[in-house]
Amino acid sequence: MEILGIDIGGTGIKGAPVNVETGEMTGERYRLPTPVEARPEDVASVMAEVVNQFAWQGPIGAGFPAVVQNGIVRTAANIDQGWIGINAQSLLSDACHCPVFVANDADVAGLAEMAFGAGRGQNGVVLMITIGTGIGTALFSNGVLVPNTELGHIEIRGKDAERRSSDAARQRKELSWKDWAGRLNEHLERLENLFWPDLFILGGGVSKSSEKFFPYLKLRTRFVTAELLNQAGIVGAAMYAKTRLA
Ligand code: BGC
Repeated sequence: MEILGIDIGGTGIKGAPVNVETGEMTGERYRLPTPVEARPEDVASVMAEVVNQFAWQGPIGAGFPAVVQNGIVRTAANIDQGWIGINAQSLLSDACHCPVFVANDADVAGLAEMAFGAGRGQNGVVLMITIGTGIGTALFSNGVLVPNTELGHIEIRGKDAERRSSDAARQRKELSWKDWAGRLNEHLERLENLFWPDLFILGGGVSKSSEKFFPYLKLRTRFVTAELLNQAGIVGAAMYAKTRLA
């Protein structure tokens, strides 16, 4: 079965058709820049353009960078505040003229990693962390997702952790990999003391530079880099839609 997967991010809206049985993208990825202010209607119309590029008619899954409860956006750490309270599922379904199923971006990336990537066959507690503009988390117990964990926003040194240890913070503050890894380590150490995961999967944009910061991470918990890199968001979004159709 093919489902169109869409990854709605702070800088780009990316999509591709996905074979949800194999986790493979069956067509070329198409990306358009996210509109600057990223207001709901603007994002919906850019997403519709991405969908039209594939002349898609059928179910669509979308990963969104916020808490999404029953289709409704609840938070807006790195997106326009106007999203809070919006039923993203109805808005995007109407704009795209297709049924769209929406979930948190880290959660859907986690679904893809657990099925086809670094989390394959992993039992116990797995915590996937996506590190980009924000820090997203996906918590799995024996392969079952606990949705909408927001462990990027725990407080560290009196600050929202994501403001210190995201990739955006590394770039904004021009931190060396070593200094930034120290901050990330502090964040992950806190999480391992609270959740006692068996495995951390580190994904998001920085995962392709893992050799630059992995040597500085000192954790009790085993940690690996995500395997699907920037495909996880698209593949996982399609997989999420499949679970909703079932
Ligand atoms: C948001 C999360 C999201 C993460 C990654 C955070 O700021 O609160 O919901 O998963 O960024 O995009």
